[in-house]
Amino acid sequence: MKIAETVVETRQFCRELRSPKGLLALVPTMGALHEGHLSLVRRARAECGAVAASIFVNPLQFGPNEDFAKYPRTFADDCAQLEAEGVDLLFAPSAAEMYPEGAVTKISVDGIGDRLDGASRPGHFTGVATVVAKLFHVVEPDRAYFGQKDAAQLAVLRQMVRDLNFGVEVVACPIVRDADGLALSSRNKYLSPSERMHALALHRALLAMEAMMARGERSSRMLVEEGTEVLRSEAGVRVDYVAAVDAQTLLPVERVEAGTLVALAAWVGPTRLIDNFIAT
Ligand code: PAJ
Repeated sequence: MKIAETVVETRQFCRELRSPKGLLALVPTMGALHEGHLSLVRRARAECGAVAASIFVNPLQFGPNEDFAKYPRTFADDCAQLEAEGVDLLFAPSAAEMYPEGAVTKISVDGIGDRLDGASRPGHFTGVATVVAKLFHVVEPDRAYFGQKDAAQLAVLRQMVRDLNFGVEVVACPIVRDADGLALSSRNKYLSPSERMHALALHRALLAMEAMMARGERSSRMLVEEGTEVLRSEAGVRVDYVAAVDAQTLLPVERVEAGTLVALAAWVGPTRLIDNFIAT
């Protein structure tokens, strides 16, 4: 696996990779890799001739009081895992390489970028869209792989790809969970053993909503109330949002139909976690 730290080197290597090997995949990450990330890499490896991954803890997508400084960084381990999965190229730039002094251009995905996590984390999706647009320009992938775990991020990025005519196909991959249901996240590393127990309420809330739907309930209000109640009744958990929205626009819907995104975010102690399902 080649490791490149500069844009110039990465662009050149990706151009060499693409023609002889067919489709070029990109799997963008912020590192601290777990089985969720690796599931994207494996899917990319199975579907494309060449696979590039990136590790960059993007300062632009963190708010001033968020966890940028303490975000887990496990670069040596991450490299070993990507190498073992047969990744061809790892792009791991510094902040100065990605945002040289004087860089001021940002990508703002209006409306949709301010919904769900975008409402709770102002500017977050501008930071995500900007860095992903830059990664697309540097790597020029045919396909880019993202997790359904970050459902709002996926919707925002699909919108950006459409609006700016990126020639890349966005591929969504299913949420990978621990055996007890907790969705894998680099931020799970922050949880103490007791917080980790409390965090299971997120998945329980989703299961409770799915069970209501299985009994025929289709009212968003009823489902959201149920999910909120499950979260509220768990000690140490503070609800950020519970919502039933159109999966493409992230706008609220009154009735939950097949394809509706049912998503939630909650604070477990100082850690903000998200989870969701797509209604069937
Ligand atoms: P990060 O949180 O490192 O996630 C990288 C990719 O892994 C995202 O597409 C995310 O949805 C996916 N992922 C994370 N946990 C997952 C899980 N349990 N199951 C399936 N996929 C999972 O998302 C980001 O980084 C950044 O915002 C990024 C897109 C790299 C831009 O900086």
